[in-house]
Amino acid sequence: VEPDAVTDVLIVGSGPAGASAALALSTYGVPNIVVTRYASLADTPRAHITNQRTMEVLRDLGVEEEVVAKATPQRLMGDTTFCTSLAGEELGRVRSWGNDPLVQAAHELASPTRMCDMPQHLMEPVLVDAAVARGTNLRFSTVYKSFVQDADGVTVTVEDRLRGDEYTIRAKYLIGADGGRSQVAEDAGLPMGGQMGVAGSINIVFDADLTKYTAHRPSTLYWVLAPGATVGGIGAGLVRCVRPWNEWMVVWGYDVTAGAPDLTTEYAESVVRQLVGDDEIPVTIKSSSAWTVNEMYAETYSAGRVFCAGDATHRHPPSNGLGSNTSIQDAYNLAWKLKLVLDGTASPKLLDTYTAERAPIGKQIVTRANKSIGETAPIFEALDGLSPQTPEQLWANIAARKDDTEAARKQRAQLREAIAFKVYEFNAHGVDLNQRYPAEGSAAVVPDGTDDPGFDRDPELYHQPTTRPGAKLPHAWITAGTRTLSTLDTVGRGRFTLVTGIGGANWVSAAGAQDLEIATVVIGPGQQYEDPYGDWARLSEVADGGALLVRPDGYVAFRHATAAASGEDAERLLTEAVRRILGHD
Ligand code: FDA
Repeated sequence: VEPDAVTDVLIVGSGPAGASAALALSTYGVPNIVVTRYASLADTPRAHITNQRTMEVLRDLGVEEEVVAKATPQRLMGDTTFCTSLAGEELGRVRSWGNDPLVQAAHELASPTRMCDMPQHLMEPVLVDAAVARGTNLRFSTVYKSFVQDADGVTVTVEDRLRGDEYTIRAKYLIGADGGRSQVAEDAGLPMGGQMGVAGSINIVFDADLTKYTAHRPSTLYWVLAPGATVGGIGAGLVRCVRPWNEWMVVWGYDVTAGAPDLTTEYAESVVRQLVGDDEIPVTIKSSSAWTVNEMYAETYSAGRVFCAGDATHRHPPSNGLGSNTSIQDAYNLAWKLKLVLDGTASPKLLDTYTAERAPIGKQIVTRANKSIGETAPIFEALDGLSPQTPEQLWANIAARKDDTEAARKQRAQLREAIAFKVYEFNAHGVDLNQRYPAEGSAAVVPDGTDDPGFDRDPELYHQPTTRPGAKLPHAWITAGTRTLSTLDTVGRGRFTLVTGIGGANWVSAAGAQDLEIATVVIGPGQQYEDPYGDWARLSEVADGGALLVRPDGYVAFRHATAAASGEDAERLLTEAVRRILGHD
């Protein structure tokens, strides 16, 4: 039977994973179709924290400026507050999301981009608009039903919800970016570890002018320690800013064994009132929905020609703000590999490196996000507020910290420490930027004989750049004439790039001799790019005439510490490296 439509890549889902896969593929000129269940994109704020790595991806895909223009800036994100309600007592704050001066410096040193708060209902249109403008064929109200695959492609049956009928789309590859209840992942039989439904949670989206409780301590998150706040949920009650300071979302837990409460407007308003702590302020409830905290990750991200990305492969709570970030980064890892396999440059073996590189990251972030929930408990412990008790007892325990007694002094110290420890959720720069794909795990990275440098400091809190193959190219400000740009701006756009310096002419010639298109970047005095601050020289970990081969996703694939001994040597070494990366050896 002839299919009704034909494409190279069919993507199921228009969330962060599907939309960014479509955007990257269209940017690289790969024909693709997106089918998505509903008649619109996300209609609630959902994921919002957008970290520097994701901003680097969006910069390469040409939508960074638009995201920055629409997002809440970093400086309004950072006073994560713990309180008894917004109007109630404040228990302490954590400088977050790069707003601690030392962490801010680390952010500035690590990347040309800034973190921001970009709610999902604003992010998805940016990604989808750009994807469609570049060639993506998007079908709303179209539901994935099933697939069958053979040696040459995948035939997918979809349902058109407007017409009520089904049709088939034939694609060379299928991407299941269909979220936490992924039918594609299930039909592909992807093995999963962990468990779903660990705890129950409710999101309530509402409008209210909360300026007087928030503008003086600007933050994305206000955590509320109140009676009932340890039941289910994500560690405590949460008032999250969607747009300063009028659009909000509350996250509140429920006992998952008892099932979700009836989400009437009255119920939603009562929860909002409890967390805001003001019965007078006008509140308009916009929507409520129940969801569960999950702790699940796929061990394999693909089956034959079917690849899954995003929540389809890692399901975890919003702690650390990793959901949409990791989804976009998955798609970015996969897209260039599909492009090179589809145009015949690479062997399909290259696609095996998708699981090899991304599955360990997925498992790591699922574990981190769930651990962060547990790390809120010491704050309640400091207030003796974990065991079942009456609200009066909890308020008395909280008030006791103000006493001039030894017990109160201890309590204050314990509370300060417990709140400060939450940097692992709110200021974990390493979690955001330290993703490495070492050659020991991935065939798309060539070992250079050096030992893994590991991390000098806590790898969750501190980013440590390196050019060892498998790491992201370090950022340094360099110049081209009067223009200042990041080293990251010289790579990407779907191409491999060879980065070298004075004495690296043999590498440049060798790059030109490959079957693969490789852009070349020469950094040094009088060259195409200059390094006036010496930052690149300090970060590159290679001699001036050494070479880095950087993949389209900005990861170092091959490194040679010194100038090549001869032109033949450079060509042989680079050819061997390219063959390994493309899966031809
Ligand atoms: P995502 O779930 O975003 O997208 C899946 C897509 O697939 C959707 O377009 C859907 O319509 C489509 N789809 C599903 N089945 C389909 C089918 N059979 N056929 C066609 N299309 C299909 N995270 C966070 O960090 N902070 C938060 O506060 C929240 N809050 C939140 C609330 C709610 C209600 C949800 C559902 C999720 C969150 N999240 C969140 C999680 C965050 O939204 C999530 O991590 C990312 O959106 C994951 O992106 P994906 O693209 O993988 O899936």
